Amino acid sequence: MEKVSEAVGAVVRETITVTDNVTGKSLELPVFHATEGPRVADIRRLYRDMGILTYDPGFTSTASCESEITFIDGDEGVLLHRGYAIEDLAEKSDFLEVCYLLLYGSLPNAAEKADFEQTITMHTMVHEQMRTFFSGFRRDAHPMAIMVGVVGAMSAFYHDSTDIHDPHQRMVASHRLIAKMPTIAAMAYKYSIGQPFLYPRNDYSYTENFLHMTFEVPCADKPISPVLSRAMDRIFILHADHEQNASTSTVRLAGSSGANPFACIASGIASLWGPAHGGANEAVLNMLNEIGSKDRIPEYLQKAKDQNDPFRLMGFGHRVYKSYDPRAAVLKKSADEVLDELGVRHEPLLELAMELERIAQEDEYFQDRKLFPNVDFYSGIILRATGFPVSMFTVLFALARTVGWIAQWMEMIEDPVQKIGRPRQLYTGKRRRPYVPLDQR
Ligand code: SDX
Repeated sequence: MEKVSEAVGAVVRETITVTDNVTGKSLELPVFHATEGPRVADIRRLYRDMGILTYDPGFTSTASCESEITFIDGDEGVLLHRGYAIEDLAEKSDFLEVCYLLLYGSLPNAAEKADFEQTITMHTMVHEQMRTFFSGFRRDAHPMAIMVGVVGAMSAFYHDSTDIHDPHQRMVASHRLIAKMPTIAAMAYKYSIGQPFLYPRNDYSYTENFLHMTFEVPCADKPISPVLSRAMDRIFILHADHEQNASTSTVRLAGSSGANPFACIASGIASLWGPAHGGANEAVLNMLNEIGSKDRIPEYLQKAKDQNDPFRLMGFGHRVYKSYDPRAAVLKKSADEVLDELGVRHEPLLELAMELERIAQEDEYFQDRKLFPNVDFYSGIILRATGFPVSMFTVLFALARTVGWIAQWMEMIEDPVQKIGRPRQLYTGKRRRPYVPLDQR
């Protein structure tokens, strides 16, 4: 695909003309073709040549960058990572292979895969002094608060991988973050339940290691369930990257100022925490528990439809997907089999969620607004069955999304047209006015 960046010359195929009906001035703007998805109009000259800014709260119609990593077709419910469909990756790949794909752009051969796994394995331990951070938190601290703090503090320990202009240091920082997120996440969980931390082990796979550090105790060796390990690995794959979502855009914006990668990922974790974004998986479980039974579904659907009621159907709706989120479809399909394999014969919350989905899908309010289940609607039910407390759900999302954040951050740093992000505004405040002394107010 021809890069549209000026450094290599934009391949301008078409233009659109903008005419200012006040001044009569017109301006031709280049239109770039994507390999998949909408064309984009390059508006960079609009302000310079016509003194007009564009206005797009929430960036609903704005392409913030050029990217080759992930493609989403919201109408068709398509999600591709470097061209590979999420359904294929969830079924046939594993999380570390998807990490390699997102970072390097192609699926690894056997030698590359083994080498990458070994590299990540060698970075799973954290600096021993990082353990002392945890004792500064209350035991009931939300684990996302711990993640924001401890991941940001990695900047204080790994100085030899903070020079963003050194490609080798960028890759080392990426490997460190992917490798250490499970260790830090497990430590946050162990701290919250008053159990000792476990060190990572080099003889476990990435996801087995995470489950080992999370659910095992030093005084006994409990075998890692292969079913649980496969289920978690699939959930990590489904959460790995998702184009320019809120937290990824936060990481790109933080990175555009030259901040070090650990600080950038900490900013992504903070943004993901919000219930409108990654915090939704925790909010879905809380909502299902609040609804409690099928006979209360109509009452809550009514609340969700009432514009004066702040209640929203958590796990429903999406800025881009105006059809079924393909990740939700994979999770829904596997929920039954995973719960069954985990020995959860009867999960009333899953039945409640499926009934809620059925009724909502028949309701014209949801149909008119194309509100379908998103990735968070079913993920929480599976995570709960695996034994994680609800407060850890978004931590697991952050663990998986770290590779997506890092891949997008690297792409931004290496983009020839990259510059510090600095949006403008529509100012509607007061015009200049004289200062009024206190005794005259
Ligand atoms: C993630 O961007 C990504 O890719 C994110 C993500 C990723 O992988 O990174 O996919 C992960 O964040 C998934 C989304 C998780 N969030 C939730 O499940 C929270 C509930 N969903 C909503 O808050 C909402 O749907 C958003 C935030 C997800 C999307 O909001 P938009 O695109 O800004 O849509 P909107 O608020 O403009 O809503 C359009 C209409 C409004 O009604 P009207 O004003 O037109 O009458 O739909 C209504 C909204 O009130 N609406 C909902 C609703 N979501 C939208 N009404 C009830 N329940 C909902 N869930």
